[in-house]
Amino acid sequence: MKIGFAKSGQPSSGAVIVGVWEKAKPTPTARRLDEATDGAITRALSVAPRFDGKKDELLSIVGPANLPASRIILAGLGKPELANALLFQHLGGNLVAHLNSAGEKEATVAIDVGDGAPIDETQAAAQLAFGARLRAYRFDKYKTKQKPEQKASLDRLTVTTAAPRAAELAYEPLGKTASAIFFTRDLVSEPANVIYPETLAAKAGTLTDLGVRVEILDENQLRNLGMNALLGVAEGSARRPRLVIMEWHGSPDTGDENHRGPLAFIGKGVTFDTGGISIKPAAGMRDMKWDMAGSAVVIGVMQVLAARKAKVNAVGVVGLVENMPSGTAQRPGDIVTSMSGQTIEVLNTDAEGRLVLADALWYCQDRYKPRLMIDLATLTGAVVVALGHHHAGLFSNNDELANQLIAAGKAVDEEVWRLPLDESYDREIDSDAADMKNIGSGRAAGSIIGAQFLQRFVNDVPWAHLDIAGMAWSSKDAATVPKGATAFGVRLLEQFVALHYENG
Ligand code: BES
Ligand code: MN
Ligand code: ZN
Repeated sequence: MKIGFAKSGQPSSGAVIVGVWEKAKPTPTARRLDEATDGAITRALSVAPRFDGKKDELLSIVGPANLPASRIILAGLGKPELANALLFQHLGGNLVAHLNSAGEKEATVAIDVGDGAPIDETQAAAQLAFGARLRAYRFDKYKTKQKPEQKASLDRLTVTTAAPRAAELAYEPLGKTASAIFFTRDLVSEPANVIYPETLAAKAGTLTDLGVRVEILDENQLRNLGMNALLGVAEGSARRPRLVIMEWHGSPDTGDENHRGPLAFIGKGVTFDTGGISIKPAAGMRDMKWDMAGSAVVIGVMQVLAARKAKVNAVGVVGLVENMPSGTAQRPGDIVTSMSGQTIEVLNTDAEGRLVLADALWYCQDRYKPRLMIDLATLTGAVVVALGHHHAGLFSNNDELANQLIAAGKAVDEEVWRLPLDESYDREIDSDAADMKNIGSGRAAGSIIGAQFLQRFVNDVPWAHLDIAGMAWSSKDAATVPKGATAFGVRLLEQFVALHYENG
């Protein structure tokens, strides 16, 4: 699908979309179209009393005989004072889905925002295009026999506005974010016979084209670093582990004493999680191809920062392993010595993400002295029980960082909900045999226990852990996120960086 911007006013073929505010109040463009069609819109509104112009509502009417348009779609915009970037993103996404299911090839969106809206027309146009692009994503490279009616019909979406060149410029960075999101969605969607530590590392390696410095550590290097917690997880697999380090230098290193280290993003990259010897049940195990989503999000974030030449220094560290049962696999009860020197009794080989992150976090903190660390992981099934598919779990040792993440999440519709960390939970992972064990004693507070475990590998740097197990994959279409891999976290972290850390 091609997306473009054009000057308002030209007659167009295909679908024409105009806006209607809540209480069925047409925008000026809609009113003009109503006049040009001898009241087609007024008539449509009067026979469709359930269409009120609320957000997410669409009403499709057949194109009147005196217009080249195949149809007119009235798009509900809700209340003018609430018309923000998210509203227009959602509208763009909803329109793409609607137009594809109608089999439309071409569409022109002619929406004027008018006074009173907290967004100007240029931004609205760009955000609408962004939402449309995000919804048009498909992962269909393995479908070799798609019939025409199974493919997307919409070839071209044109957003008309008074200043198309300005809208194009506003869209440019959003297009880069969309590309990074698609890169992440692709990585997460790929099956585990295609994406495994070595191939995922190679994908991260392509970021060098954008000026990211990428280092890929192999098993020997990890052994020399003492990363036995991560290596233990990899023991059972024929696919050998990797640690990938991505550095983006976008801000000059002033060298002054106030200079602080980079922002650090750390990702869990379990390319398949069978559970290991503590094997998972067969039903649903297939989902564990996306147990590397945290790492794919980190790779996507590094990509967009580099693509936008963000004025910030950031480092991404992803620990890549496959968790398999075999004659060489780690056993329940094994004790490993992590890079930090702390020993871990591995009582359940299915609590593997925390073992990988323990060494990745420690390595990152040790080497980069980052000003803050944020890790992303599909860490626990328990977070899905607690928060479902609406919020990721947020854990942090720093209120300011936590609040920044909560606010960034609200702004981009990738919401996080903070859960507690506390000494009383921490005590639950004390082990009789080693410094700690990798699970608690029961099923209670599973996500918090996982976070407490990670915190034992964090010194006094501001740190946040995002448990994205309920958010990485979706079984339902949403306005800007078709079902499947969501790339949840890319927009959140990009927004977080842009709001608080660029140019400084
Ligand atoms: N990758 C899983 C968590 C997961 C489960 C993600 C379901 C997405 C959907 C993780 O490695 C895991 O297996 N966690 C265990 C921890 C338990 C053994 C303490 C879990 O959640 O059951
Ligand atoms: Mn597991
Ligand atoms: Zn896992």
